[in-house]
Amino acid sequence: MTKASTPHGGKLIHRFKTGQEAEWARQEAKALPVIPITEWTRSDLEMIGVGAFSPLTGFMGEKDYQSVLASMHLQNGLVWTLPVVLPVEEALAHQLIVGTKAALKGEDGTIYGTIAIREVYAYDKAKEAQAVYRTTDLEHPGVARLFSQPDFYVAGEIVLLEKRQHDEFPELYKEPAELREIFAQKGWKSIVGFQTRNPIHRAHEYIQKTALETVDALLLHPLVGATKSDDVPASVRVQSYKVLLENYYPKDRVLLSAYPAAMRYAGPREAVLHAIVRKNYGCTHFIVGRDHAGVGDYYGSYDAQKIFSTFEEHELGISPLFFENSFYCNKCDGMASEKTCPHDVSERIILSGTKVRAILRQGEKPSSKFSRPEVAQVLVEGMAGVTQ
Ligand code: ADX
Repeated sequence: MTKASTPHGGKLIHRFKTGQEAEWARQEAKALPVIPITEWTRSDLEMIGVGAFSPLTGFMGEKDYQSVLASMHLQNGLVWTLPVVLPVEEALAHQLIVGTKAALKGEDGTIYGTIAIREVYAYDKAKEAQAVYRTTDLEHPGVARLFSQPDFYVAGEIVLLEKRQHDEFPELYKEPAELREIFAQKGWKSIVGFQTRNPIHRAHEYIQKTALETVDALLLHPLVGATKSDDVPASVRVQSYKVLLENYYPKDRVLLSAYPAAMRYAGPREAVLHAIVRKNYGCTHFIVGRDHAGVGDYYGSYDAQKIFSTFEEHELGISPLFFENSFYCNKCDGMASEKTCPHDVSERIILSGTKVRAILRQGEKPSSKFSRPEVAQVLVEGMAGVTQ
């Protein structure tokens, strides 16, 4: 059986060039044909380059892509639930030559990497949307993005030349190999990963701390790549995480680090990918709560938990920890879930990121039953400067 801390596929990929090697590659890249990439694709490029998406070494070819859509496995049999692909316009697709290289240029004009072109193929957007998001409704942010992107995919191994400039909180960006090293130094053997795109509310804290009772440490790993526009910006969230950890968490058992991926809002399939990627970062356990990576009403509250039973434990190599919908109960005078609270629903304050965002948008401060006061204060001040 795969050891829990073994990277997916057995080996951590690293395709980020630095120093003289990167300098040569940058010079070479200047003479290559250009493939423009969005901020969203740039995130994926970085995730592949630093090894977070191990075993991927590049953007997916058609066989892997079709296999992921149809069976949630790569061609080589490894579990992989979401396409990692590079979209290009049709006119450019016809110009690209298999066997040559191209430069991947971001929206800011920076060449972030190169690709060795192995394949160029057309794909069916409705089919991808249905498989990945379980809907073709354009109101779904993932489906809307898919339908607005170009019509061809380019596949091939990449080289990452630049990570995004992380000006705001550079100390929080750690590659999988770096986090693994920190975990080893601290002597942590069992580490539970927590994904979030929201400020931490009391239900998050409750499930994190319940998990922490049974493992050595918690990796608070908020996603800081692209999210939909009404999510609280990462810069504000990071301040809120820091103040929360400072006041309410044991310093020697928790680590905060940034997860630079883009949010897909693919619910169940994204939950599995989130778990596998956290395994690559060195986690042994991963929290999946209510409507993980969901949006609107597209997924059932526990679909993101049920999907895990599709796979054998050894295929995943990381243990999911499932949590029921958690809430503040006035009668319990604390956090609870259906599993632990006997009181009437009228006593329960339902907590969600959507609710916290709605309160903030109205310029109000979430109550201490929603958010810790220090967190609420940071959010109110941070959101005052954000137009929505
Ligand atoms: S997301 O990335 O999964 O969209 P979100 O911040 O909404 O992030 O949730 C982070 C984690 O907490 C997910 O595993 C989610 O299922 C869980 N979660 C959020 N709210 C609750 C709640 N009230 N009860 C139980 N789990 C929750």
